[in-house]
Amino acid sequence: MPHDVWWRIPESLFVMHYFPFSSRILGLALITLAIGLPGCSTNSHPTAAITEKPFGNDTQGAAVTLYTLKNRNGAEVSICNYGGLVTSLKVPDRSGKPGDVVLGFDNLADYIKDSPYFGALIGRYGNRIAKGKFTLDGNQYTLATNNGPNALHGGLKGFDKVVWHSRAYQSALGPALELTYLSKDGEEGYPGNLSVKAVYTLTEDNALKLEYTATTDKDTVVNLTQHSYFNLAGKGTVLDHVVMIDADKFTPVDSTLIPTGELRPVDGTPFDFRKPTAIGARIGQDDEQLKFGNGYDHNWVINGRSGDVRVMARVYEPTSGRILEVLSSEPGLQFYTGNFLDGTLKGKNGQVYQFRNAFCMEPQHFPDSPNKPTFPSVVLRPGAVYHNTIIYRFSVSP
Ligand code: GLA
Repeated sequence: MPHDVWWRIPESLFVMHYFPFSSRILGLALITLAIGLPGCSTNSHPTAAITEKPFGNDTQGAAVTLYTLKNRNGAEVSICNYGGLVTSLKVPDRSGKPGDVVLGFDNLADYIKDSPYFGALIGRYGNRIAKGKFTLDGNQYTLATNNGPNALHGGLKGFDKVVWHSRAYQSALGPALELTYLSKDGEEGYPGNLSVKAVYTLTEDNALKLEYTATTDKDTVVNLTQHSYFNLAGKGTVLDHVVMIDADKFTPVDSTLIPTGELRPVDGTPFDFRKPTAIGARIGQDDEQLKFGNGYDHNWVINGRSGDVRVMARVYEPTSGRILEVLSSEPGLQFYTGNFLDGTLKGKNGQVYQFRNAFCMEPQHFPDSPNKPTFPSVVLRPGAVYHNTIIYRFSVSP
């Protein structure tokens, strides 16, 4: 199908149900804490289920659990309570065959050893803070610099490297996993005791919905996001994936990937994804911003009102027919094309991850917002509740 044709298909037609609901009474869904119940984690029968199994120990010896949520329409997600990592996400292709569309490892030890944030829950601050410093209420805070001169993704031991309290349950929308964590005042240099909750729900329309909330007892900054590496074909390059991003502007960066503060119109640049365009179509252009990112590694200023959950981006993969829609209430979207993957990581089932074998879409506040007064604020004060919804919704084009 030509790329511009799938785009014109009404949104309602994107959601294809492979197993018709015989009943929508979710209360009857089978919840199985199912170590030892064979068949519970396969896609072969249309029963919603939750299973859990041990997934090794963190470096302090804490036991980690891997949860698998399965809906009745052929989708299945595995998440562990170390780092809130999404370790696998299986959704049907256009023939109804499920396939894993995220990069990751087979075991926890590999995630702990060397992971570029595969599937991770990112916090307290997703993306970069210049030189690891910011000032809030007249106090200067210093963070570890773990990305050249800058702080990235919450520090040396960010939310992607801690063990969360976990509880799986069947919600009205589908099987769900709740993770909670208390980040102590001063952890990784950030002020305030921050109490964080992340709820992952696998909905019956094949969406992975994440709801983050947080409260603090002292003024602080918060920017939580999700860092799955997607490949809708399950393997190979993502340069043929066709992307739409609903943004008239993006935030150009300096050579260390810190925004300059400008909101630059995408018109006439390789950053204009308002019409669906293959990732690879312009990625090699002689463009300073593409050079700084070694490809796309930028934040787009998403149209519409921040706070409203809206479609930020759509990605279509022609061979499988899979479509991913990214929705969120956040003002920005970091679109990263796996430019740091270089063939040195061996992932699930022995797959070697090469340059640009995946892309990330991380709904977020803009990078370095604590140092950019003109950007939407990331300050959270006592009494207020931080809230962020991110939805990765899957469907197929016939
Ligand atoms: C984010 C950043 C990238 C890179 C990845 C992790 O997407 O913007 O530059 O650091 O995380 O490798």
